[in-house]
Amino acid sequence: MPVHQFSYIELSSDKELDNDDYHLLSEAKRITENAYAPYSNFKVGCAVQLQNGEIILGVNIENASYPVGICAERSALSSALSQFPDETISAIAISYFSPQGENTQPAFPCGMCRQFISECEHKNKQNIKLIMAAQLGKVYIIDTVQHLLPFSFSKIDLK
Ligand code: THU
Repeated sequence: MPVHQFSYIELSSDKELDNDDYHLLSEAKRITENAYAPYSNFKVGCAVQLQNGEIILGVNIENASYPVGICAERSALSSALSQFPDETISAIAISYFSPQGENTQPAFPCGMCRQFISECEHKNKQNIKLIMAAQLGKVYIIDTVQHLLPFSFSKIDLK
């Protein structure tokens, strides 16, 4: 029977990251405070690393009409693609702050964001590294969103 497996990196702290990834994650952590999350109070920050050295930030922006809200990942990636449509995305870092929680366990992108990141990766023609951590504690690194979205739907299916 076929099996889908993937390997990932789990670090006990962001101190173990290389300089570039540490900086990217720090930016994602920092920007969480700009989230507009009056309904959930769950503030998410995302930092997109472009190959030209630019870092584009985004946060979740909620709405009184709940489904209208947007996640931090799609907010940051939409901004990156708007400003730099031809630039390659090398990595994204995702962090959050929840006043109710301990903020030590990484949170992973929701299903809709996984699909969105997958589309960006196809456009990119290069894997996008995912770096996830809360404000403190463990860091997870996953080489490609395809590991989080096996058998993903893409433009190949539309042919
Ligand atoms: N959220 C994100 O920004 N990214 C995710 O991947 C998961 C969820 C936001 C959406 C909503 O504003 C809040 O977190 C609670 O679900």
